[in-house]
Amino acid sequence: EGSLTVAELAKKLGREPSEIIKKLFMLGVMATINQDLDKDAIELICSDYGVEVEEKVTIDETNFETIEIVDAPEDLTERPPVVTIMGHVDHGKTTLLDAIRHSKVTEQEAGGITQHIGAYQVTVNGKKITFLDTPGHEAFTTMRARGAQVTDIVILVVAADDGVMPQTVEAINHAKAANVPIIVAINKMDKPEANPDRVMQELMEYNLVPEEWGGDTIFCKLSAKTKDGIDQLLEMILLVSEMEELKANPNRRAIGTVIEAKLDKGRGPVATLLVQAGTLKIGDPIVVGTTYGRVRAMVNDSGRRVKEAGPSMPVEITGLHDVPQAGDRFMVFEDEKKARQIGEARAQRQLQEQRSVKTRVSLDDLFEQI
Ligand code: GTP
Ligand code: MG
Repeated sequence: EGSLTVAELAKKLGREPSEIIKKLFMLGVMATINQDLDKDAIELICSDYGVEVEEKVTIDETNFETIEIVDAPEDLTERPPVVTIMGHVDHGKTTLLDAIRHSKVTEQEAGGITQHIGAYQVTVNGKKITFLDTPGHEAFTTMRARGAQVTDIVILVVAADDGVMPQTVEAINHAKAANVPIIVAINKMDKPEANPDRVMQELMEYNLVPEEWGGDTIFCKLSAKTKDGIDQLLEMILLVSEMEELKANPNRRAIGTVIEAKLDKGRGPVATLLVQAGTLKIGDPIVVGTTYGRVRAMVNDSGRRVKEAGPSMPVEITGLHDVPQAGDRFMVFEDEKKARQIGEARAQRQLQEQRSVKTRVSLDDLFEQI
């Protein structure tokens, strides 16, 4: 806090209040012993005594999730949109991304079901777009919610032959909760049973009204299989992201979110991170969730080693002491010592929280038995 009374300031400086009052008088300020002094007056007196005023740090760095990133407008530059593909199981999300990326992820999936969040970056008309692929199976609600939280745009995939299904509705709710714009992709238009009008009608119930019907939701009819309509979808993504004016400061210590993490036999803990601001570099001291370390190696979505990752870029890193959790936040610190301190403090806090939950549970158990 910026204010102190004359008496409080005198005590802090180890002087008599009368001396302070005299000094203030010499400086042209009339003051009484219980008078509140403003920041300028305090600084003036302190500098007269040769004491440097240290601003109290009010930001709790162990709680870095809550730190608001404030950058000067001139430090901000355009960043790629983060686009999350959501929708009901088997409606063609991964196939759509395969078509966009010219990849064959679907073929490698067990039972043709996506079970994790995939993160990829593609370049369209010289502009990068980051895509997150989410699972549609009902068991993976948390992953969908997480995807919606880190995204700028949601692509809602609805199969034209199947229509709106439970996880379609769930995806809409996640997007709305995260306040993220939705682009609807009506997929499987190549199928003879395709009925896009039915899909559009069903979605009206959720306030997603196509522009051609007087609403303001962008609908793209396409086929991930034949690739018809995919170019238009990409154009729409670029259009919407332009309107969103997505920006970040690449010249700050990186901050972002864990997309997924695992323990690799050879490489140790491996985490896929989405950089949201700043630039992540090899060697950076980093705190991720409740663990920490130093970025040892970074690999991009096509398995190539990279030295740095800027805003909106997904990268896989090694060099952490432990495996973090998907959804954890990460932040780079000035040195390894600091990263360790913060990481350990966060781990400690989590342990205490877990213990207090356990105690509560066992007390409840106890009362139940009585
Ligand atoms: P989950 O990730 O498990 O939710 O599924 P998904 O939405 O990723 O669906 P996926 O891409 O795995 O496709 C499911 C099935 O639909 C596969 O057999 C695809 O070949 C098929 N499919 C996807 N898109 C199209 C399309 O445009 N036309 C046709 N005919 N089939 C498609
Ligand atoms: Mg999939």
